[in-house]
Amino acid sequence: MNENPYIQAQTQKKETSERFTLPPLPYKANALSPVISEETMNLHHGKHLKGYITNLNKLIIGTPFENSDLETIVKNSNGAIFNNAAQTLNHIIYFNTFSPHATLYPSGALLIAIEKEWGSFDNFKKAFSTAATSLFGSGWVWLAKDKNGKLLILQENNAGNPITKGYTPLLGIDVWEHAYYLDYQNKRADHIEKIWTIIDWNTVKSRYDK
Ligand SMILES: [Fe+2]
Repeated sequence: MNENPYIQAQTQKKETSERFTLPPLPYKANALSPVISEETMNLHHGKHLKGYITNLNKLIIGTPFENSDLETIVKNSNGAIFNNAAQTLNHIIYFNTFSPHATLYPSGALLIAIEKEWGSFDNFKKAFSTAATSLFGSGWVWLAKDKNGKLLILQENNAGNPITKGYTPLLGIDVWEHAYYLDYQNKRADHIEKIWTIIDWNTVKSRYDK
C-alpha cells in the first residue's frame, strides 16, 4: 500500500470500473494566477492529468497491475502503462506542492540538508532553475532524497520519476510545454523564476521528514 497519504488519499481504489479517479485541486483554479493562470490550470489538471488517469484505467485492465497501487505500477511497469501511471503520480505531487499561501522558505532538517548540499537555499534555487531551464524537450526536474536523507536534483525526460531509481520525490516541476506555454510562450526560464513564489516548502518539508 502507498505510504504517502497525500497520494493514497487521492488515488484510493473505487469499487467501480475506474481504478483511479481525478483528485480535486487543493485550491481554486485561479488561486495561483498570474504565476499559473486559471486557463492553464484548467487545461493542465482537467484535461492533461484527467487524460493520463483515463488512459491508465483502460490500460491496466487485464494486466497484473489491475489492483496495484499507483507507486507499484510506476516502479514495475514500462511503455504506455508506465507513461500514464508516472504522469498521474508526477502531476499529483506537482499540484499538491503549490499554495496561494505558500511558505516560501524551507526549515528544519530539510534546510540543513539543502545547505549541506548547495551551501545555501539561494544556491539550491539557482542549481534547480538551471536544471529546469536546460532540460531538453519535455520532462520533469526533481528534488529528491536518497535512503540516507541526502538530497539531489534530477533531470528526468518525459514521465520520469525518482522512485524508479530508489529515491523519494520531494519537489517536481513540470517543464512540459503544456505547463507554461499559454502563460509564458517559449520563455520557460520566466516561468521557473515565478514558480518559486507558489512552492509551499512546508509541504516539501513534510515529504522530507517522512
Ligand atoms: Fe504536465
